[in-house]
Amino acid sequence: METCATVAAMRRLREGWQGRVALVPTMGALHEGHMALVAAARMAAERVVVSIFVNPTQFGDPKDLAAYPRTLEADRAMLEGAGVDALFAPDVAEIYPEGDETIVETLRLAGVFHGAVRPGHFRGVATVVLKLFNIVRPDIALFGEKDYQQLAVIRRMVRDLFLPVAIRGVPTVRAPDGLALSSRNARLSPEGRAAALVLSRALDRAERLAAAGAPPERLAEAIRETVAAEPRATLRGLDIVDAESFAPVTEAITRRAGIMLSAEVDGVLLIDQREIDPPIDPPEDRP
Ligand code: PAF
Repeated sequence: METCATVAAMRRLREGWQGRVALVPTMGALHEGHMALVAAARMAAERVVVSIFVNPTQFGDPKDLAAYPRTLEADRAMLEGAGVDALFAPDVAEIYPEGDETIVETLRLAGVFHGAVRPGHFRGVATVVLKLFNIVRPDIALFGEKDYQQLAVIRRMVRDLFLPVAIRGVPTVRAPDGLALSSRNARLSPEGRAAALVLSRALDRAERLAAAGAPPERLAEAIRETVAAEPRATLRGLDIVDAESFAPVTEAITRRAGIMLSAEVDGVLLIDQREIDPPIDPPEDRP
């Protein structure tokens, strides 16, 4: 596996490649969720690039940025073992050189839902992902479905800017007890980790209600109740959106919808998501 620390080195390597190139953008502290993206990338292209860059512009709170786990050597070993062709691991000055002032923003999508609780976050994500696309020039890029709104922001940016890259979402990988894998889980104490299960528990409950034809406000109420019952957790964001348009779903769920949930557990912001299909028969049509 080649390691490139500069834009010029990454570009040189890319220029020598034939065939399809897949990019898996990450912020490191790799876990099985990232490795599922890498495995999907391996199937989709002849060459796989993984980027590791803890992107400062998507963090609102400098303490959160400083606390983000950085495990480059362990990450490198995992990627070598998975047959990745190149690791792109630049430093901040390489991606945001002196005088950098251009941003990319999906105007509506960046400011709603999780974006309303984390102002500037999705602008930082879109900007760095566009930079990575321009450096690596992938044919396909893979992102986890756990970051449901991030995936929607990236898809919108690619569509609006006519970027020649296919975007693929990969299902969330969970621990056997249901906790969605996240680099942030490393910051949880054992008690915090147990409390964090409240996210998947709340989503399971909402999913069961949705399958029985319950309206969105009933799902939201059940999620709020479930999270409120866990003293270590504070609900930060809860939105039910149409999976295609990303418009809020307020009436009955008649098309594929996503529930996006974020909660702080012992000061660590965690997110989880669930996509739900409407029941085959709307409740009023049932005998
Ligand atoms: O999902 C992430 O790890 C980051 O938001 C991404 C896409 C690598 C951009 O920094």
